[in-house]
Amino acid sequence: MRTETEHTIYLKDYAPSPYRIVAVDMDFRIAVDKTRVVTQLTVEPREGTAPGTPLVLDGDELTLGSIAIDGAPLVLSAYATDANGLTVFEPPLRRFVLETEVTIQPEGNTKLMGLYRSSGTWCTQCEPEGFRRITYYLDRPDNLAVFKVRMTAPRDVAPVLLANGNRIDQGDAGDGLHYAVWEDPFPKPAYLFALVAGDLGSISDSFATASGRKVDLAIYCAHGKEDQCLWAMDSLKRSMAWDERRFGREYDLDVFNIVAVSDFNFGAMENKGLNIFNDRLVFAQPETATDANYDGIERVIAHEYFHNWTGNRITCRDWFQLCLKEGLTVYRDQEFTSDERSRAVKRISDVVTLRSAQFPEDGGPLAHPARPDQYREINNFYTTTVYEKGAEIVRMLATLLGEAGFRKGMDLYFERHDGEATTIEAFLAVFAEANGIDLEQFKTWYLQAGTPRLKVAEHYDADRQTYTLKLSQETLPTPGQPNKVPLVLPIKFGLIGPNGSPMAWSGVSGAEVRDEMIVLKDSSAEIVFTGIPSRPVPSLLRGFSAPVILETEASQQDQLFLARHDSDPFNRWQALQDVGMALALEAVEGRPWSDAAVTALSQAMSDTLASDTLDNAFKALAMSLPDEQLIGRQIGKDIDPDKIHAVRKRLLQAVFEPIAQQLLATYNALASDAPYAPDPVSTGRRALRNRMLALLVASEAFGASLLAVKQYQEAGNMTDRLAALSAASSAATPDAPAMLADFRTRFGADPLVLDKWLTVTAAAPRDGVIEDMKAILSDPTFPKTNPNRLRSLVGTFAMSNPTQFARADGAGFRFVADVVTEIDTINPQVAARVLTGFRIWPMLESGRREAARAALTGLASGNTLSRNTTDILTRMLAS
Ligand code: TRP
Ligand code: ZN
Repeated sequence: MRTETEHTIYLKDYAPSPYRIVAVDMDFRIAVDKTRVVTQLTVEPREGTAPGTPLVLDGDELTLGSIAIDGAPLVLSAYATDANGLTVFEPPLRRFVLETEVTIQPEGNTKLMGLYRSSGTWCTQCEPEGFRRITYYLDRPDNLAVFKVRMTAPRDVAPVLLANGNRIDQGDAGDGLHYAVWEDPFPKPAYLFALVAGDLGSISDSFATASGRKVDLAIYCAHGKEDQCLWAMDSLKRSMAWDERRFGREYDLDVFNIVAVSDFNFGAMENKGLNIFNDRLVFAQPETATDANYDGIERVIAHEYFHNWTGNRITCRDWFQLCLKEGLTVYRDQEFTSDERSRAVKRISDVVTLRSAQFPEDGGPLAHPARPDQYREINNFYTTTVYEKGAEIVRMLATLLGEAGFRKGMDLYFERHDGEATTIEAFLAVFAEANGIDLEQFKTWYLQAGTPRLKVAEHYDADRQTYTLKLSQETLPTPGQPNKVPLVLPIKFGLIGPNGSPMAWSGVSGAEVRDEMIVLKDSSAEIVFTGIPSRPVPSLLRGFSAPVILETEASQQDQLFLARHDSDPFNRWQALQDVGMALALEAVEGRPWSDAAVTALSQAMSDTLASDTLDNAFKALAMSLPDEQLIGRQIGKDIDPDKIHAVRKRLLQAVFEPIAQQLLATYNALASDAPYAPDPVSTGRRALRNRMLALLVASEAFGASLLAVKQYQEAGNMTDRLAALSAASSAATPDAPAMLADFRTRFGADPLVLDKWLTVTAAAPRDGVIEDMKAILSDPTFPKTNPNRLRSLVGTFAMSNPTQFARADGAGFRFVADVVTEIDTINPQVAARVLTGFRIWPMLESGRREAARAALTGLASGNTLSRNTTDILTRMLAS
C-alpha cells in the first residue's frame, strides 16, 4: 500500500499556473477503433513568469503523434512525456499556439472518464480530471478558455454530432464521413467540456426566457426511448422558469441539449449547454418507472440546469472548493422541489437521507470537512458531505440571513464573480458584505468535520415564572481533527402551552434570540425566558434548522404532545420518530417496553392517520419507525445487526398490529382507477397506500402477504408493483421468491427495471442472498462494466442489507471485498464507492468487527489496487 504522504495534494499549496490557456481549437477524427485529436492551445505566460519556466500539461493514457509551436515541430529535446503528462521545457515567453496530435482509444475505456463508448455512442465525462484523457491540457478548474470543436465521424454510426455551445457549421466530409463544428462563447474550465457522437433519437421543444429569447431544447436518447423523455423535458422547462423567478437567472445560450447514456459513473453532468445524463435519470413511463424515479429525474434535471449559473458561469478555483458549486446547487434543487411540491415532505425526506448517508460518513473513518484541505484522489470527494452537508450549510446561511438577506447575497455573488473561478471565502464574503455581518465563525462549518451534538436540558421555575433552556454543543474528534471548536447553530424553536397553542414570553436573555430562533455561538448557553405562566413544551430545531444530533430529555409524553400539537410539520414527524427510537433502544438494551408506552405510540400513529389536516405524503412519512441502521448508529457501538432486526420487527408488530383494521381501511379507501400521474397529490396517495401495505405485511396482519401478491399482480404502474414486491421481500413472506422470479421474467429485458430486481434481491434480509448474488455475477451476460448494474446489486447489498452484509461469519464482508478487487481493474471509481459501504465497521460488535478488519486487510495485501480504492481502504483501516 502507498504511504500516507505519497500523492497527497494540499489546499495550502494552491498556486496559479505560470501559463494560461485562453483559447482551445480541437479537431476530433472519430473512427470505430481509435480517435485522433488535434488540439491547438493558445497559451500565454502569466505576468511574472520567469523565462525558461517549463509548461507542464496533464495527460493520461494518451499517445502523442506530433507536437509543434506556432507551426514549427518541436525537436525531441524540447519536450518530454510521462505517465502524468507533457512538459515543454522552454516555451516562448509570449502568446503562442501549441499544437498536439494524440491518439486515444474510447473503445477500451472502461473507467468511463474522458472519451468512451456507451452502447456504441461516443460520449465524454471530464469532471474532475477526465479531459487529460482526451488531450494534453492544464486540467484544473481555474483555467478558463473558449472552446471551438470540430468533429468528423462516420455518418452511419454517428449521424448525431454534439458539443458545447452553438453549432456553427456542418457538412459532408466524403468517404461516408461527416463533420460538425461547435463553438462555446463562454470561457470554461476543461471539466465542463463535452462531446457526443452517435446514432440517437431525440425530442425537442423550446423555452422563451424572461427577456424574450428563444432557447431550443433537445433530449437525445437511444432510438425508441423518445417518449420516455417527456417528463425530463417538462422538468427542464420548469427548472428554467424557476431559476428566473426565484434567483433572476436566465439561460445564456441559444441551445440546451441533454443526452442520456447507459454507462455513467454518476447521476449526471452539467457540461456547458450539453448535459450528459445517466439514462436512469431521464427515462420515465408509468409501467417501468416509480414515483421515486420521477422525483429523481425532476431533481437531477433541475440540479444540472442550475449549475449553469452556480458551477459554470461561476466555477471553482480548485477542487477543494467543490462544495462551492455542489452544496449551493443542491440547496437550489432542494428549494426548487420544495416550491414545486410540498416543502415539509421535501425537508423530511432530505433529513432522512442526511441522517442515513451523511451522518454516518461524518461519524466514521471517512469523515472530512465540507471543504477538505487535502486529498489523494479527488474522485473520492464527491461525497454526501460535500453535497448534502454543503447544502445544509447554505440553508443555515439562508436561515440566519432570512430570505431577502440571502437573495441580496446571491445577487452580489453573481454580480461580482460571474466569469470567475472562485472560493468559499469569496462566497461567504458577498453575504457578509450584502448584509453587513461577520461570517468568520460561520465559516467553521466548511472547515470542521463531524456532526455536532446539541444537548438540551430545561428547567421551569413556577415561583419566578421563568423557563430556562441549557444548551451545549460538542463535536467529537474525526480523523486528523482531534480538537473541535463551537459552531454557529441557528436553532429555530417555539414554546407550546398546555392547550397546544404557542406560548409568548415577556423577556429573554442568555444568547441571541430573534424571530423564534436561538443563535448559539458558544459551547454552552443558558437561555432564560421570563413571564412564563406554566411549564411549556419546547419544540426545538424546527425544520431541522441545523445539521446536528439533538439530545433532549423530553419525555414520551412531551414527544406525543408535540406529535399532536406542533405547528412545525418537521417536528411533528420527528416527535413520532423519537418515540419509536426510544422504544427500540430500550428493547435492544434488554429492557422490555411497557405496554402503556407502546399503546401510546400506536394511538398517536392512529391519530396521525386519521387527521384531516395532514396530507397523505406527510402521513406516509410519519407512519414509520426508524430503520435498522439508524437504530444501530444511535446505539453507536458494539452493534449487533441481528438483534436490531429482531427488535424492530417485534416493535413494528406491537405498534401497528393493534391498528391493522384502520391501516387496511385506509389502504382500501386510497385505491384509485385514475391513470398514473406524477403530480404531488397522486404521488402522496400512492405513498400512503403503499406504506399501509408495507406495515400490514411487516406486522403480519391478517393475510396481508396475500394482499401484496394481489397488488403485485394487478398493479397498473411500477410504483405500486414494486412497492408490493419490496414489502413482500423485506418481510420475507412465503410468496416473495415467486414474486421476484416473476418480476425478473416480466422485466428482465429492460436494464433499468432489471436494476430494481437487483436492488430488491440484494436488500433481502435472508440467508442465501450472497449465493444468489454470486450466481448473478457469474452469469456471463451480467455486464460488469455497467455502473448502474453493479451499484444496484453490490452497492445496495453493502449499504442497505445490514444483517447479511455484516454477517457474523464474515461472508458478507468477504463477498464485497472480492467484488471490489475484481471491479477495481475495470472501473476504479465504482469499486472505491462500493468499498465505502464498510464505513460502519468500527461500530460493530467485536466478532463482526474482526471479520470486517480481516476482509479489509485481505483486500489491502496481495492486490494491486487503484489509487481510488487504495485511498478509501487506507482511510478505512486507519481508524
Ligand atoms: N458535477 C456532477 C453533478 O453534481 C457530478 C459528476 C458527474 C461527477 N459525473 C461525475 C463527479 C464523474 C465525479 C465523476 O451532478
Ligand atoms: Zn452537481
